[in-house]
Amino acid sequence: MNLAVVILAAGQGTRMKSSRPKVLHRLGGQPLVEYALAAAQSLTDQRPVLVIGHGADAVRAALGERVTYVTQAEQLGTGHAVQQAAPLLKGRSDYVVVTYSDMPLIRVESLHALAETQARNPGPLTMLTVISEGLRDFGRVVRSPDGPVHAIVEETQATPEQKRIAELNAGAYCFKADWLWDALPRLPLSPKGEYYLTDLVHLAVADGGRVEAVTIADETEVIGINTRAQLAEAEAALRQRVNERWMAEGVTLIDPATTYIEPSAQLGRDTVVMPNTHIQGRSLIGEDCVIGPNTILRDTTIGDRCQVECSVLEGAFLADEVTMGPFARLRPGARLERGVRMGNFGEVKNSTLGPGTHMGHFSYVGDATIGEHVNIGAGTITCNYDGVKKSRTVIEDHAFIGSDTMLVAPVTVGAHARTGAGAVVTKDVPPDSLAVGMPARVIRRMKAEG
Ligand code: UD1
Ligand code: CA
Repeated sequence: MNLAVVILAAGQGTRMKSSRPKVLHRLGGQPLVEYALAAAQSLTDQRPVLVIGHGADAVRAALGERVTYVTQAEQLGTGHAVQQAAPLLKGRSDYVVVTYSDMPLIRVESLHALAETQARNPGPLTMLTVISEGLRDFGRVVRSPDGPVHAIVEETQATPEQKRIAELNAGAYCFKADWLWDALPRLPLSPKGEYYLTDLVHLAVADGGRVEAVTIADETEVIGINTRAQLAEAEAALRQRVNERWMAEGVTLIDPATTYIEPSAQLGRDTVVMPNTHIQGRSLIGEDCVIGPNTILRDTTIGDRCQVECSVLEGAFLADEVTMGPFARLRPGARLERGVRMGNFGEVKNSTLGPGTHMGHFSYVGDATIGEHVNIGAGTITCNYDGVKKSRTVIEDHAFIGSDTMLVAPVTVGAHARTGAGAVVTKDVPPDSLAVGMPARVIRRMKAEG
């Protein structure tokens, strides 16, 4: 099926009361427009055409070269918006699918059904509709007595009787391309001074064509984002969809209502997610973990059988069997190898903690390489920043860092070495030795003393 997709995103989104273009508001962690792009990509290999206008520069900056842009200088309605794509697309495809960028939850399956129905329709267009008593701000679908769609009446123009029609225009259409490009210039001006794409239905009927409709069963698919309240409603619907998917895959969510998993994240089976947990970005969680409560994971990879309680992890990596928290923080570049135990009020940034290392309480480890089975005493700090540059700390295998040790980087603590409580380490500590005091001096060579 030679099919082009046009996504409308030029509107101001007046009802959002925002200085940001509507399509860049976030849903499930991503700009709204990303959902329409993903849907388009599932329909066709052709690059989607995005009609932009209000906030065009910001939209271009956000999306780059992944789409072909068409500018609608003045927002004269959805029909006028599609017409802006005519010079680019006329004669280039057999079919054109038009969607609105503010309908992020339409399922790919529904769009496929739309295109397949139109492929069999002798008439010029097929549209998606939904039956609902509760939804607002939708065009009403007026059918002729024998079944096919006769017209769409916008809510603002509907008579009280038409307002009671429960079948609504979802806002996605598949057209025969030749007919679309021929009909668009014939659209009448609406009483509001706009050219409505929806008036094409009436034109098709006037041309003697049949307008088909595919009716969606799940009304959450057609939540359109016109207001902040609808944005919140869509967020809740999306969250429920994602949560149901992971439960079906074998993940336990103790309280789905307070579990916030973005669509981009992935979880392994038998993992348990406790309440008030946010799993964001490209986070990847293994099997049999316990995550939360009160935890935020952002772009973080976690192995199997890990436990993370009341902690915030960003851009971090945990191997298997790591336990963290409560109240720990990992910043980008933190890497905790197998079996690491990290306790309360610790922070790790751009550092590796080797297998079996313990960091129990109140420590900051930044720009450090820490070997295996190291013990980091309470209150240890890597002083990695002298106000100008960052320097690295190296702690070798089996070292024991006493409580409240300051490691003034660059500095290395050798394998099996120890530091005394409160040591301020400004020089390298050789392996197998004990350093104490401020500045710390080596007072004993463990091996040498036998
Ligand atoms: C539209 C439909 C309505 C349908 C509803 C579904 C029309 C006339 N009405 O109403 O029947 O039930 O969607 O959600 O189509 N846009 C432009 N340029 C413009 C105007 C709009 O690009 O000049 C874009 C907007 O950015 C938006 C989309 O088109 O993404 C829809 O516009 P919007 O104003 O939200 O239409 P609705 O009133 O929701
Ligand atoms: Ca809308």
